[in-house]
Formats: sequence, structure tokens, C-alpha cells
Amino acid sequence: MARAFLSSGDLIADRRASYADMLFEGGDHEAAADLMRQALEIVPGWTAGLFRLGEMEEAAGHGDAAAVAWRKLLELDPADRFGAGLKLAAAGNANVPDTPPIAYVETLFDAYAPTFEQALLDKLDYRVPELLAKAVAAAAPGRRFRSVLDLGCGTGLMGPYVRPICDYLAGMDLSEPMLQKAAEKGIYDRLEKGDVNALDTGPNSADLILAADVFVYVGDLERAFANIARSLAQDGLFAFSVENHAGQDELILQPSLRYAHSEAYVRRLLADHGMTPVSLAREAIRMDRGEQLQGLIVVARQIV
Ligand SMILES: C[S@@+](CC[C@H](N)C(=O)[O-])C[C@H]1O[C@@H](n2cnc3c(N)ncnc32)[C@H](O)[C@@H]1O
Repeated sequence: MARAFLSSGDLIADRRASYADMLFEGGDHEAAADLMRQALEIVPGWTAGLFRLGEMEEAAGHGDAAAVAWRKLLELDPADRFGAGLKLAAAGNANVPDTPPIAYVETLFDAYAPTFEQALLDKLDYRVPELLAKAVAAAAPGRRFRSVLDLGCGTGLMGPYVRPICDYLAGMDLSEPMLQKAAEKGIYDRLEKGDVNALDTGPNSADLILAADVFVYVGDLERAFANIARSLAQDGLFAFSVENHAGQDELILQPSLRYAHSEAYVRRLLADHGMTPVSLAREAIRMDRGEQLQGLIVVARQIV
């Protein structure tokens, strides 16, 4: 979303900003930031411009100026659709929030929906749905599920893998446009807008709960795991991915503004909520800026 050009409403400011973008893409971050500052002199309350200015100042090595732009943006947009608070935290200028602002995640995926699949499958070699499906098949060979809940289902990339092995398939996501894309596939029995942190489907409502590449946008997983443990049938499976990091911290906010979780954290939270891993594998889950990104592919079950 940050790179999408959102008009300031002023022709000259827009021209300066689009030239600043060109300079930025060409690697002249200093000149880009300078020109973007000039654009914002004309339209000081332009929120998308402030976000972009912050990115340009940061890339030009002006960390303090970037923080000023993001703080101003937060004042103008307290719901934080641009994720300025996350930017401040990732740069060490604010505490890392437990969870990203809902408005940020929604805005990000609302904008991403039309190109999401093409970007992930064609360019980023995204493998999480396939890896989760294989892990579930290995954990429960030949099993047919009564009711599957695909949390953060997005455009429904998980759907084709689980539809043949279940009687009922529900998907839930924060982003309406992502849900619309999933609906176009015609393979989900039910799709609804919702937040995994507020999941309330009633006890024992699903015997397979999936979360493919969702927890990177959730941060602290305490509430999500509590809700999932409550919804999961006694003989049910919970299959999910996280981006993994090897440090001491349980979770960190990465420069990408996605959270990464340690294996120890995942194991502790599962145990705290009466679950245990059936399998836990470190896998390359997709490409990120030319490098393979490592994640954990986990299948868990209730401890009975
Ligand atoms: C990277 S996409 C993955 C989509 C899909 N699971 C897949 O594998 O293609 C992350 C999805 O999680 C959704 N999401 C993020 N935070 C969420 C939350 N708190 N509750 C529900 N959905 C969430 C986003 O809207 C987005 O569609």
C-alpha cells in the first residue's frame, strides 16, 4: 500500500511526489526525501505522503526525520491505517505493540486483494498452504474432517487442498476484498469477516483449524490460541505457520512489519492452552527480497 500513489488532491504536490518516487526507485534516496518534503510543504496533512516521506527519510539515513513524519501521521490518523506505529517500533522509536492496528491490516489486505495471488504464487514462491496440507495428511493419513475452519483465509488458497477431505469448509478473514476473492472460488460453505483475536464459534465447532501465514499479522498469539483451543474438537487438529526467529525473544517485529515467533514461544503457548505438537518442521515458506524465508509448519492436537 505504501508504494501505491494516493493523490494529495494538489496537482503540483502530486507531481513532486511522483518524481520523488522515481528518484527513490532509482536509488537517490536523499533527493527523493528532499522533493517529498517539498510536496508536503504544499499539503502538510497528506497522510499517504507523510508515510512515504517517512520511508524516504529512513532510506536516506535520516532516522529522526522519519520518526517525525510517522508521529505526525499517527496524530492525523489515530486508527493508523498506514502502520506508522509499527514503523516507529521497528525503528526502535516506540515499544513494539502486542498486535498491529486492525485498520492497518485491513487496509493492507484490502489494497492487496486484486494482486495477492499473482504476487505470492508467481513471484514469491509461496508454499504455506501446500506445506500445511501435507503436514495435516502426514499427521492424520486418510482422515476426513467434519468441519474445517480456515482462519485468515484470504483469497482462499488453502481451500482447494482441504475441500476434498472435509464435509464443511468455513473461512474467516479481516479483509472483505480478500473474502470476495475467496467467494469467487466457490469452494467455501461459509465466509465471514472476523478477527482471530475475537473468534467465538462455540466449543468443539471445528475438527480442523487452519491458519496459513496469518499469525505474522497477529503478533502476540495468546488470545488467538485461547480462542482456537476453545473452538477445537477434542480429537481435532490445529495446523498453522509462523515466521520463525532463532533469538531469545518470544516474538519480534521485523523490518517487514511482520512478526516472527520463536519455537519455544509456540511450544509454550500450545501447552498453556492444552495442546501439543504432532509435528513441527522448519521450512522455506516463500521468498522475501531475494532470500528464502524460514517458517515453522506446525500441526497440533488437544492433550486429552
Ligand atoms: C498473508 S495472507 C494469507 C492468506 C491465506 N491464509 C493464504 O495462505 O493465502 C494473511 C491473511 O490474514 C488475514 N488476517 C490478518 N490478521 C487477521 C486477524 N487478526 N484476523 C483475521 N484475519 C487476519 C489478512 O486479512 C490476510 O488475508
